[in-house]
Amino acid sequence: MLRAFSEFGITVHWIILQYSIGIWTIAVTLEILARVKKQENYLKMARSLSKVAIIIFAVGAATGTMAEFGLLLFWPGFLELVGIFFFAPLYIEVFAFFAEVIFVYLYHYTWKKVGPKFHIFLGVMAVGGLILSGLMIVSANTLMSFPPGIQETYNPTTGEYQSPSYIYTAPNGTEIPLNSTQIQNMIESDPEQYNELLEATVMKEGVIGIVFKTPGAITSFMHAIVAAILTSIFTLIGVYAHRIKRVKEEKKEYYRDGMKILVILGIIYSTIQGIIGHFMADEVARFNPEKLAAMEGTCTVCGIITISDIPILGPITEATVKFLAYGSIDAFFPSYMDIPEEYRPPLIIHYIYYTKIGMMMSLFASLLLIAYFLFYKKQDTPEWVRKGMLGYPVSIQVVSIFGWMTREIGRKPWTIFGVLTVEDAARDGPVSTGIIILLTVYILVISFGLWFIVWFLNRLSSDELLDEIEEEDMKIADTEKSDKSIEEENT
Ligand code: HEM
Repeated sequence: MLRAFSEFGITVHWIILQYSIGIWTIAVTLEILARVKKQENYLKMARSLSKVAIIIFAVGAATGTMAEFGLLLFWPGFLELVGIFFFAPLYIEVFAFFAEVIFVYLYHYTWKKVGPKFHIFLGVMAVGGLILSGLMIVSANTLMSFPPGIQETYNPTTGEYQSPSYIYTAPNGTEIPLNSTQIQNMIESDPEQYNELLEATVMKEGVIGIVFKTPGAITSFMHAIVAAILTSIFTLIGVYAHRIKRVKEEKKEYYRDGMKILVILGIIYSTIQGIIGHFMADEVARFNPEKLAAMEGTCTVCGIITISDIPILGPITEATVKFLAYGSIDAFFPSYMDIPEEYRPPLIIHYIYYTKIGMMMSLFASLLLIAYFLFYKKQDTPEWVRKGMLGYPVSIQVVSIFGWMTREIGRKPWTIFGVLTVEDAARDGPVSTGIIILLTVYILVISFGLWFIVWFLNRLSSDELLDEIEEEDMKIADTEKSDKSIEEENT
């Protein structure tokens, strides 16, 4: 039960924080485009997004703190080990958070109060802080899938499988190869010796270097950041498709311009995401063959239907994935049954992963269809296409969460792959009154977070938001006019 709460908290935090990273990135991009292309509507859009994103940021931070409490409370074993090799990035994350807090509020509260160039600089710094935070946190997660010293164990030419193995560096510099069974025994019999080995191995890479040298570190980080931007883009397209039907004709142009630029950004970022996704799958194939076996559903005796069983599509998909993963369609996928039972990830990730990829391909195809109407036919999309877009906010969140489920469920039974099992990492035992009280607070905050998402989507698509901006513009213009006339009177 405790783990479920922790998972729930982290998932709600992820659902909201994507809008923090994504919407600020889109707002700053639109402001830059507005200045370059002298496009007034882009500027209005950037300001309306900033008005909503400032509140998301606050709620995101609150759910983030709760998610952190969940980690402290429910995963003591994990934090003890992470403290040895991952303190530096978590420490840097604190400063990244400072930067984002300062610049996000400066950016929001200085619209029309500082020069355009300086305002864009503040925006870039705000997005930089958000992304640096993301880098630190995602790389902590990456080290759970690819811990220090991890080696490639799988040979796709022969299909021969070996259990996870590592090369550690002893304090005296000698290299010590260990497989996951030997590591388990060492943690059991002499945890001090293991911690010493782990520390020396990390020091060899450097406490910061380890963030960038770990396999999957950069691809996972980029994949998560692009996921946040894509989730925001598809959500906004859904919101604008909802609005365009309800506003007066003179306001429709604003939403048409919004739709056009978001569709272009959507096509660009989806392509980038697919390429990054390929490199991530490549790292999974090399270092987590157990996860790949479950992702591809390579169990012939489990009585499950997999994508490979689908006539025509199955063999094509299998050959394509083999070619992308191993450079040859004759290569062998790791066989699920070759993996020792206690190390097999749940096969459900085969369906989760391919549902994600299937949904992403359909979303991408639908963007191309919208682009065909908006840019080639130069007309609004037909009603059935517009209705389809209303499902974007939910479907893109499903794609994103299925990504995390592939990542996290695919690493089971490990919390730190080949080193620390979930059983050893998580708190167990009786639930004290204190924990119950905290869980209640937890649920309240998280439920507020969920309510807030619905509120935010409504606010984003409200006329008030645009009216507020027009009012502000008029007020600023009036002040400037009266300042000018006072100046003229004085001269
Ligand atoms: C066709 C394109 C895509 C491919 C090939 C792909 C591939 C992958 C793979 C292989 C993983 C698991 C990595 C691991 O377990 O280490 C993953 C994780 C993930 N995917 Fe995707 N993905 C794609 C599109 C997307 C999209 C469009 C989103 C979100 C909008 C997304 C969000 C995520 C997230 C959040 C994770 C977990 C975090 C991370 O590993 O960065 N993916 N993806």
